[in-house]
Amino acid sequence: MRIVLLGTAAGGGCPQWNCACPVCVSGAPARTQDGIAVSADGTDWYLVNASPDIRAQILATPELAAGPGPRETPVRGVLLTDAELDHTLGLMMLREGAGLRVRAPRAVLGALDAGFPVRGILGGYSGWEWSETAARQEVGGLLVSVFEVGDKRPKYARALPGASGPWVVAYRFEDPATGGAFVYAPCLASWPPGFDEFTAGAGYVLLDGTFHSAAEFGGATGAAGAGAAQAAMGHLPVTGAGGSLEHIRRLRAERPGARWAYTHLNNTNPMADPRSDAHREVCARGAEIPADGTRVKL
Ligand code: MLT
Ligand code: MN
Ligand code: ZN
Repeated sequence: MRIVLLGTAAGGGCPQWNCACPVCVSGAPARTQDGIAVSADGTDWYLVNASPDIRAQILATPELAAGPGPRETPVRGVLLTDAELDHTLGLMMLREGAGLRVRAPRAVLGALDAGFPVRGILGGYSGWEWSETAARQEVGGLLVSVFEVGDKRPKYARALPGASGPWVVAYRFEDPATGGAFVYAPCLASWPPGFDEFTAGAGYVLLDGTFHSAAEFGGATGAAGAGAAQAAMGHLPVTGAGGSLEHIRRLRAERPGARWAYTHLNNTNPMADPRSDAHREVCARGAEIPADGTRVKL
């Protein structure tokens, strides 16, 4: 199985167009918005999440280059972890494509019908298929399992009636040919019960690294009410008591071969700058903070 990290920043990217926080003005290498491409054979590729940066991400990735026919593409489909705009706006940018299948949790499909009605809009452009993700299914030669990680709705979907969750999921990809396993969980409000088991045996686990610390958003932006806003965003911080790094340290002791990495870094997150103490310290404690374009083979 091959994985390409197309983008590693949270919504807005890094730097964000309207932000002059210390990280945004630091000159750190830019990060585009979170999403990956995964393939069993290096020929057929599946996007997981479609950020508004998807066009530039595809053009920067030789594995996803169009061809060999004049209107052919190795991109076969899209899986969505949630309905947030940073993970779904890119569907609009893929409107020229035909025959893609989009798989997503039921509530996410509902949001893409009503709150952000991209399904109806794209109905006039592309013959796409939309289906609910099954708990376990085969996708392009990979076995894909789904794990419910939360019920946080996007802001635009707060008032949608009748949509029960899950709103946010993680995916586990297993390659029966190599035995490799990979978990992608870019939005984790907590370390949920059963997540230890879901990540067991995975050679690479790519986790929500939105916030380095619990009070970061307010400290970096100075915005009134930012502390509450960060908490409401539903992203478990990396550091601090109960943070994801504690879980990584605990599990690393039992799973010496596994690699743990962070994506979906918010632009206020000092880890986004490879020259920062935060970056060095998190790496020293056993996690990776990959850049856009990082490739993994399992
Ligand atoms: C999130 O991950 O919390 C959202 O994408 C935030 C946003 O950009 O609206
Ligand atoms: Mn996001
Ligand atoms: Zn910023």
